[in-house]
Amino acid sequence: MQISPQLKNRFKNSKNILALTGAGISAESGVPTFRGKEGLWKQYRAEDLATPQAFRKDPKLVWEWYLWRMELISTKSPNPAHFALAELEKKRSDFYLITQNVDGLHKKSGSEKVMEIHGNIFRNRCISCAHFYDSDLSKLKISIECANCGNLVRPDVLWFGESYDTELLNQAVSLAERSELALVIGSSGAVGIPVELARIAKENGAFVIEINLDPSGYSRYADLFLQGKAGEILPEIVSYFV
Ligand code: APR
Repeated sequence: MQISPQLKNRFKNSKNILALTGAGISAESGVPTFRGKEGLWKQYRAEDLATPQAFRKDPKLVWEWYLWRMELISTKSPNPAHFALAELEKKRSDFYLITQNVDGLHKKSGSEKVMEIHGNIFRNRCISCAHFYDSDLSKLKISIECANCGNLVRPDVLWFGESYDTELLNQAVSLAERSELALVIGSSGAVGIPVELARIAKENGAFVIEINLDPSGYSRYADLFLQGKAGEILPEIVSYFV
């Protein structure tokens, strides 16, 4: 990909680089996105199942969906896009990564400073005593009851209608405010708060670069739109940051 010397300079000289990733960065690993055609599970959408109401109504159905996703994701590996951001973290101490993804693939690729603002599908918690469990898929198939208090265990992910962890969100806002260059990668902008982070970065002077197959709800804040696959674009541009 040809980029101008000015842009190369901007990559090299910008401080506090921020990457905000969505399901699209994991698409090339074979993890279904939420709003792509393959994202549907049976006749359900994420909005139907990833809610406290759905869990109260039918916890087993919601767990069936999460077990399906956990088992699928556990067979997937990071792709070149994940590895490119892990490499960028090694080369730039002022690089920060915020992800909406719960698939754990950023950490699996070697990224250590990962802010999982929507939680992690492989971590579960009791709805009452907040006892945490790492997913042992075999156990979860047998019981979704808390060993500590007997109440229900749920995935430790953010559901529609739930509030973000305040501490985590404040940290994310602060990173957005301080970033001089923000990469928005593989997200549709269907969910409000992450789009707000892009707006905050933009309004605080960041140069915003969007990497996506198609325009999205973030595109209005993008100074540069790099259309294409994250797994092809990111490895190419990461070298310009050092
Ligand atoms: N490279 C770059 N972008 C891609 C690729 C790819 N290979 N494949 C798909 N995309 C883009 C799509 O064009 C789309 O804009 O990734 C985006 C995926 O959008 P969604 O499926 O809506 O995923 P995301 O934006 O992460 O959803 C946000 O919604 O369901 C909730 O909590 C869930 O974190 C999720 C949030």
